[in-house]
Amino acid sequence: MSSKPRVLVTRRWPVAVEDALASGFDVTLNASDAPMTTGELGQALLEFDAICPCVTDKMPEDLFARSGIKTRVIGNYGVGFNHIAVEAAKARGITVTNTPDVLTDATADLAMTLILMLARRAGEGERQLRAGRWHGWYPTHLMGAQVTGKTLGIVGMGRIGQAMAEKAHFGFGMNILYHNRKPIPEADSRRIRAEYCTELTWLMSKSDFVAIHCPSSPLTRHMINERTLSYMRPDAYLINTSRGDVVDEKALIKFLQKGLIAGAGLDVFEQEPTVPEAFLGFENVVLLPHLGSATTETRVAMGMRVLGNLNAFFNGEEPPDKL
Ligand code: 8YV
Repeated sequence: MSSKPRVLVTRRWPVAVEDALASGFDVTLNASDAPMTTGELGQALLEFDAICPCVTDKMPEDLFARSGIKTRVIGNYGVGFNHIAVEAAKARGITVTNTPDVLTDATADLAMTLILMLARRAGEGERQLRAGRWHGWYPTHLMGAQVTGKTLGIVGMGRIGQAMAEKAHFGFGMNILYHNRKPIPEADSRRIRAEYCTELTWLMSKSDFVAIHCPSSPLTRHMINERTLSYMRPDAYLINTSRGDVVDEKALIKFLQKGLIAGAGLDVFEQEPTVPEAFLGFENVVLLPHLGSATTETRVAMGMRVLGNLNAFFNGEEPPDKL
């Protein structure tokens, strides 16, 4: 029997990190790459020393209530961890880690992609061209909105929000407003001159683009709702690359149907991978399948970060990204 800790990786990772993990641990991979059921994850808690889940693995509170749990560390592959009942895991003596920093730029880049696609009607244009509906240039063809020099309202000024502020300000000359639990002095010291908005509704009323970068939590659930959306201007766009449940999708659909906002760019959904049918019918909505961190560099770095956390844990040290 192997004396190496038994580690379960719930989905396929880039091969380089699967190999790196296998050199130090007794690793079980999910060859089929099918999402694991909560039942399977519960069983895994009884069998593995470490589990490396990701956003598709729901690990609710009751999973940690069972007896005979063997798992001592959960090395989440991702920065967001709202799919894991972290407090319940901790109460059972399980250490939980995540992967901050390494996906900051990739996620901010994707939010910028959504802004540009929305404002410049890139999705509409591509659909038109591919369908053979482009019959040549004309002065009023697919006119969109200028991004350069506009105002970006950032909701959640953590690592990703700050990276977004830098890219938008220094790359596109955007004015930055932000709403956060508290002001972030770095946002100013980096010469971004981001303006702190105590009230989310104030930010929403002043922004041409509102980008959500806060984590999912009971406090942020449906923070973007009928009331807060009603402060947005009809020429303003909403962008969400954080978690679907920060936005009340029903309210957003209503606002889009009535033309009360200019459009939305969404990389995350309340019940993903299920996407509300209504979104598919809007030309002014850009829909992406949760691609925030999906660059090879980032997905490898995320795996290496999990590996670093497991190595530290099994060497008796405090994992760098312990929650
Ligand atoms: C990840 C993300 O790819 O890390 C996060 O929080 O949203 C994504 O970019 C995903 O969560 C992997 O578990």
